Amino acid sequence: MNEEKIMQGRKIGVFDSGIGGLTVLRELNALFPNDNFFYIGDTARLPYGTKSRETVIRYSESLARIVLGFGVDAVVVACNTASTHALEAVTVLAAPVPVIGMIEPAAYAAVAATRNNHIGVIATAGTIQSGAYARTLDRVSPHTTVCSAACQMLVALAEEGWTDQGDPVVRSILSRYLDPLFDHAHAPDTLILGCTHFPVFSHIITEILGDGVTLINSGVAAAKTLSSCLGAAKYPVDPQNRIRFFATDDPTRFARNACRFFDHPLDSHQVELIDISYSAAEDDKARQAMSRLQNPSGQSIKSTAA
Ligand code: DGL
Repeated sequence: MNEEKIMQGRKIGVFDSGIGGLTVLRELNALFPNDNFFYIGDTARLPYGTKSRETVIRYSESLARIVLGFGVDAVVVACNTASTHALEAVTVLAAPVPVIGMIEPAAYAAVAATRNNHIGVIATAGTIQSGAYARTLDRVSPHTTVCSAACQMLVALAEEGWTDQGDPVVRSILSRYLDPLFDHAHAPDTLILGCTHFPVFSHIITEILGDGVTLINSGVAAAKTLSSCLGAAKYPVDPQNRIRFFATDDPTRFARNACRFFDHPLDSHQVELIDISYSAAEDDKARQAMSRLQNPSGQSIKSTAA
């Protein structure tokens, strides 16, 4: 990591498995123009959506430790999969620093938007299989019907930069995922984009489904939640160095694809390579120590944060 630059003012840490969380940073940046941001994309270990709960918790904790090391005043878990599995673990780790995830804000926004009480969710395999959205929507509004689809391939398309409206391949993959959810009489009128990589497909999704279906961007919902929790920053910050971008692998590729997800293009020198091996080793040591304490026989090692 580069030598630490001195930053004045409030700081917000944001992380995702890759560049998808930039769709969240875009919303945060608009709502918090006087805050500093540290964004980490864990491009070395992407995708999270196909990993086990234990692994996603371990990865999320290591990223949370890094942003907390910058002395942030809030942490945004800009990844639905990490929010699904690791929000509790990150919240415990960060306390008393507030932590905002994606699932609950998006669920509340969807319930506020639906008129027919039928909500669709598209997300990664991990998020859908966990049932996190179905449970949260049921808690927020028990009368709501929920249907969902795991759309893991969209993460790869987004990271690859295949997001063009005119691309027939992308359109046909999206139709294949969406048709079963919408091809019946009681179709949802609201669709949660339950993965932060998916807002880049919003225009194609609306083309397929029509204007009658409201799309819920989890980043928009989460930024509003953070805004009501933190309020506006009191002091202006240096506009030049307000946002620092980190990737755990290949900053050049990260910068090249970022313009589809963020407000403006990034140069590769604006993205810093961050070494996760140190924090991963620390995580492992802490976990082994914890599991020895809880299970002196050492027979089975289970995630303590799950
Ligand atoms: N962007 C992430 C999410 O919101 C996950 C993508 C992945 O790594 O599978 O779920």
